[in-house]
Amino acid sequence: MSSLDRMLNLLFASALASLSVAAAAQQAPFSAHSTFSEAGSEWTVFHHPIKTVAVIGAGPAGLQAAAKLVEHNFTVRLFDRAPSPGGNWFYTDETPVREPYPDRPFDEAPHIPESLPSTYYYEEGEEGITLEDRWKEHWQPRPLWDNLHTNSPAVITELPDVPYSTDRPWVLSNHDIQRHVRAYASFHNLNANDYQTDSRRAPVTSYSTRVDRLEKIESTQKWRLTLRKLERLQETNRIKADWWTEDFDAVVVATGPYVSPHVANIKGLVEWSKVKDGEQYSVYHSQSYRRPQRYENKTILVVGASVSASEIARDIAPYAQDVLASVRPHPNLHPFQLRSRLRFPDTTKFVPEIDHFGSLPAYNKGIKDATIHLVNGSVLRGIDEVILATGYIHSNNFLPNFTSDGQPANLHWTGHYIPDPTLAYTNVRPWTIGKYQSYAFAKVWEGTAHLPPQKQMQEDYDNAKYHFRGLFASAASEALFRQYVAWLNNESLINGGRFVEPWPVEKREVFVYYSEVEWIKGYVNLGNFTDFETLPAREWDSARVAWDAIVYEDTEW
Ligand SMILES: Cc1cc2nc3c(=O)[nH]c(=O)nc-3n(C[C@H](O)[C@H](O)[C@H](O)COP(=O)(O)OP(=O)(O)OC[C@H]3O[C@@H](n4cnc5c(N)ncnc54)[C@H](O)[C@@H]3O)c2cc1C
Ligand SMILES: NC(=O)c1ccc[n+]([C@@H]2O[C@H](COP(=O)([O-])OP(=O)(O)OC[C@H]3O[C@@H](n4cnc5c(N)ncnc54)[C@H](OP(=O)(O)O)[C@@H]3O)[C@@H](O)[C@H]2O)c1
Ligand SMILES: *[C@@H]1O[C@H](CO)[C@@H](O)[C@H](O)[C@H]1NC(C)=O
Ligand SMILES: *[C@@H]1O[C@H](CO)[C@@H](O)[C@H](O)[C@H]1NC(C)=O
Ligand SMILES: *[C@@H]1O[C@H](CO)[C@@H](O)[C@H](O)[C@H]1NC(C)=O
Ligand SMILES: *[C@@H]1O[C@H](CO)[C@@H](O)[C@H](O)[C@H]1NC(C)=O
Ligand SMILES: *[C@@H]1O[C@H](CO)[C@@H](O)[C@H](O)[C@H]1NC(C)=O
Ligand SMILES: *[C@@H]1O[C@H](CO)[C@@H](O)[C@H](O)[C@H]1NC(C)=O
Repeated sequence: MSSLDRMLNLLFASALASLSVAAAAQQAPFSAHSTFSEAGSEWTVFHHPIKTVAVIGAGPAGLQAAAKLVEHNFTVRLFDRAPSPGGNWFYTDETPVREPYPDRPFDEAPHIPESLPSTYYYEEGEEGITLEDRWKEHWQPRPLWDNLHTNSPAVITELPDVPYSTDRPWVLSNHDIQRHVRAYASFHNLNANDYQTDSRRAPVTSYSTRVDRLEKIESTQKWRLTLRKLERLQETNRIKADWWTEDFDAVVVATGPYVSPHVANIKGLVEWSKVKDGEQYSVYHSQSYRRPQRYENKTILVVGASVSASEIARDIAPYAQDVLASVRPHPNLHPFQLRSRLRFPDTTKFVPEIDHFGSLPAYNKGIKDATIHLVNGSVLRGIDEVILATGYIHSNNFLPNFTSDGQPANLHWTGHYIPDPTLAYTNVRPWTIGKYQSYAFAKVWEGTAHLPPQKQMQEDYDNAKYHFRGLFASAASEALFRQYVAWLNNESLINGGRFVEPWPVEKREVFVYYSEVEWIKGYVNLGNFTDFETLPAREWDSARVAWDAIVYEDTEW
């Protein structure tokens, strides 16, 4: 067959496909997730055409999804609990409300008034909660510190449309990333005060708006979001809370990988968490760390051995009297973990894992005279403060019905939730694969890209053909990029749509320089780095080459 014939065939297939979709759309009623076949092709079709989409979260992932869906003429609403876009990168000096000890179960339901919509005005100190804490509980200030720099090079930490200067540092400060993400939001008219010019539509963004419940309405087959917006009324010193619902044909969950802090389950910790020295708690999670100056002459124990632990230790070491780190042995360190261990300051005193925190003489005199018992039998004394750099958990309390143990599960490689593909998760590294994933959401829901029938998606998933762990893909690596690009372009040729470019090869090259120096030497060989398929497997996990690192978005990035 000549290429012209092939093209004509494709065009013909396209015409046929759109005819079939049109015909199918008129065959009511559909069961929720039915599929149909036409001329040997079979794919998932939706109960009704997708017109309205909610995006939950305005970080690097959600902003891209919202921008792409707006471009494709969906009626979009973008919700974020924070007062501005930026997601994790919306740094402020405010610190989050104190983390619960022990961890709170992820499915604890928030308070929602019985009848909606509803409005309430909170006074200072009501229910024993300050307005400041009520506000911070609502939007959750981010777990960043002033001097935090990325542990990923700029070349793989960049959104489309608003490029960094070409002459830039290798790694950027969190403030630069914040400006970058907010520039992307502004470019796409999604920033907090942007005037939305399209009078046909409701405003796209709603900030300070938290999604408290997500449910599927049987009768209409729409998603209902229960929303809560807080507004600080400075002049009357109150907080206004509004609850209401909005219904959508489809939903993108872009709430990020680090929803809530995790405190280790160590005996005695709950008691120790109550201790204060003056106004300051003696034990706290790394999410509240901001600046090093007040650590002058103090002895600090950091718990954990990952990025927060090593980077906070580096930040405070020049001020502190002593920095200790409680690190537990790890059989198989991957490059990120190894890098963190190497980045602890030279003066760090490493101690083993904590067995338990000893008994306390008082709750108001700090912990300096109390004892910390290590698993090797030794006892620590004279610690001023303990920083728990023990990571994060997923705790989307609006999502328990569509997750397993709080983790999104049953996701097709595109991010669509297989039992109901009108729900999708952003589950790839947003900086790199995010733009492909966003385009895939738009194409699937407008009908210019087809998902396989649900039965096949589920089979692929069960057979671990597309192996997703947690929020992020670990195994697919280079193949996932290629799969997205090839699939999107193929679907566009058949069903309509534009051409997408693969990730630029020069960015790949720059990234390889960085990983060569920052991670294990020889981890990627510069001489044959383009030979993706044949690079040898490494021992750690499934990440094999620099490419895996880009998409190795387990809990690492
Ligand atoms: C301390 C720290 C340092 C990091 N450093 C790096 C780094 O150097 N390089 C790197 O690439 N990555 C880093 N990351 C990872 C970071 O998560 C990603 O860079 C990126 O921000 C993920 O984008 P996202 O849009 O998926 O999620 P996020 O940026 O986390 O955005 C999620 C958004 O969802 C909103 N949200 C959550 N729940 C709700 C709800 N119920 N209702 C409404 N809105 C909600 C949140 O308010 C938030 O704005 C770091 C993470 C942490 C915690
Ligand atoms: N750009 C930056 O500089 C920067 C800074 C901070 C964070 N980050 C990013 O933010 C994300 C989260 O990083 P994170 O370091 O906060 O969390 P993390 O990577 O999940 O690490 C948690 C650490 O806590 C340890 N831990 C848990 N319970 C423990 C216990 N009982 N005793 C001793 N150690 C215990 C874990 O050890 P085990 O491994 O043994 O479980 C692990 O080392 C990562 O993606 C990271 O890249 C980036
Ligand atoms: C969106 O609508 C505009 C105006 O009708 C149209 O020009 C444009 O092609 C549409 N975009 C897409 C991606 O369908
Ligand atoms: C820290 O110790 C040094 C040296 O003893 C002293 O000069 C300095 O004042 C101390 N700083 C604080 C904040 O205690
Ligand atoms: C326990 O570990 C600490 C820190 O490495 C060390 O100083 C101490 O000697 C060890 N104690 C025992 C009993 O091995
Ligand atoms: C989860 O589903 C159950 C049963 O359908 C329902 O009672 C519950 O309210 C749902 N939870 C959320 C948070 O939607
Ligand atoms: C393109 O899509 C068609 C129809 O789904 C499929 O048969 C074909 O294998 C695809 N080609 C590629 C290269 O993915
Ligand atoms: C890459 O090159 C190095 C030497 O330059 C060689 O030892 C290694 O086997 C090569 N790897 C592959 C997969 O060809």
